[in-house]
Amino acid sequence: MSSFKEKVIYQIYPRSFKDSNGDGIGDLPGIIEKIPYLKKLGVDMIWLSPIYPSPQNDNGYDVADYFDIDPVFGTMSDFEALMKQARENDIDVMLDMVFNHTSTEHQWFQNALAGEKKYQDYYLLKPAKADGSLPTNWDSKFGGVAWEKFDETDLYYLHLYDVTQADLNWRNTEVRKKMAEVVNFWLEKGVHGFRFDVINVIGKDAELVDSVAGNEKSLYTDKPIVHEYIHELNQASFGQDENCVTVGEMSATSIENCLLYSQPERQELSMAFNFHHLKVDYENGEKWSTAPFNFQELKDLFNEWGEQMARGDGWNALFWNNHDQPRAVSRFTDDQEYRVAGAKMLAATVHLSRGTPFIYQGEEIGMTNPNFALIEEYKDIETLNFYQELREKGLAHAEIMAIIRSKSRDNSRTPVQWDQSENAGFTTGTPWLKVADNYLEINVKKELASGSIFAFYQKLIQLRKDYPVIAQGNYQRYKDQHEQVYAYLREYQEEQLLVLNNFYGKETQIEIPTEFVSGTVLISNYPQQKVGAQLILRPYETLALYVGDTKI
Ligand code: NOJ
Repeated sequence: MSSFKEKVIYQIYPRSFKDSNGDGIGDLPGIIEKIPYLKKLGVDMIWLSPIYPSPQNDNGYDVADYFDIDPVFGTMSDFEALMKQARENDIDVMLDMVFNHTSTEHQWFQNALAGEKKYQDYYLLKPAKADGSLPTNWDSKFGGVAWEKFDETDLYYLHLYDVTQADLNWRNTEVRKKMAEVVNFWLEKGVHGFRFDVINVIGKDAELVDSVAGNEKSLYTDKPIVHEYIHELNQASFGQDENCVTVGEMSATSIENCLLYSQPERQELSMAFNFHHLKVDYENGEKWSTAPFNFQELKDLFNEWGEQMARGDGWNALFWNNHDQPRAVSRFTDDQEYRVAGAKMLAATVHLSRGTPFIYQGEEIGMTNPNFALIEEYKDIETLNFYQELREKGLAHAEIMAIIRSKSRDNSRTPVQWDQSENAGFTTGTPWLKVADNYLEINVKKELASGSIFAFYQKLIQLRKDYPVIAQGNYQRYKDQHEQVYAYLREYQEEQLLVLNNFYGKETQIEIPTEFVSGTVLISNYPQQKVGAQLILRPYETLALYVGDTKI
């Protein structure tokens, strides 16, 4: 069995993947139907966003029962059939573990509301301050305050996310035991991968204090105790399965902490997701803004993380897209004129780098942001909350819509475009979120018949298996001040790799190290060019040059 370093993981957002029963919402039988497609792509593992019973206020990230399947997605026997079908196609399954909070509809929260002290201690219930104000001045990440009145009592419960997502009290050993039970339950069903949602914010202090001067996140993020909790969970559950792949979603984290989360000897997780590179188009750190991306900052982040994680033997999860992000091809390239070249260039930057690449559904065919015209077409709770908030602040509707079109999480949640039939072949009913208008142009069927992005991904996935330098090599920045190019070097034993990526829609020139002049082009998104000491890179060109003798 290959290690997690050689694997490529594909994220499925089940609601939007494939609907089998015409209710407009994707489901497990829909995923089963498409396993051969994923096998053709060549991925090793599929990560499913939450499929557990949930009121679906945050599309399943508000779990009401960790041990079952939401009827909207199917049944436990559908899940077992999916496991079987995946296994037969050499694909493993990764499940999403949402352990920072539960839905307020979870039985534990309901028992707490009914007055059971034992369950009240599962959550973070605090009294108001002496002056009657909220327990702390913290904000919810989805807008508004982070505290809500706990029924008719004098207490408030903490919710760092939506008001229906109550934060759990990880200081309670029973909560920690329950979480290990959840992981073990799914391990026994043959699941070999776990993605832990916002796991670096589980460790709150016993005393919660007001934030001062914008230090709020540091009050609950990456606390030393989080490492202890993750290690304990590892030992009590997935650490017993040497083939298990784990990834922690780390909010506002640091390289130092991600080294600790992922260094093998610490027995915490296989790897960590961080989001710094997806904040380079935030104006003054504010997501709800429209600003061009800062290319130098993007490169500096990739280079710092790449080099330091390599030096410290940590491991990055690499990605451009997920269900919380706008489509990278729309965000970082010109999706009108250079969509195909741009999609491939972005793919190469991630797949040839040091870390485990994640593909988000639809990325492999170059799906774009949908650019919806109306606020009613957006469904995401975070988007709708911010729409209200920005309106209250006095921003004009048109200005807010421009921001939402570029930043809403729904950008990546539109249904997968399978073919040219109605609703892009996603559903025979009414899709829960509108299909992007460009589905006649961009869809799987057309891509497989005459496109080239899917094939480019297939090749990248295969290269990782064939050339050890890709999975095992170190990482070193190259010409990091270049105006248009993000470039890096990889080295492993006798192999060397140079990856050049032009991030702009105009030609540029770059000098390459002499040893690569006689190198082989491993992959490129343009017809081959003659390699010399100076290279011209065409709009959004990517080119990987290889020196070594593996597999040639
Ligand atoms: C991160 C998830 O990716 C996101 O979709 C969710 O809303 C929050 N965590 C809260 O669970």
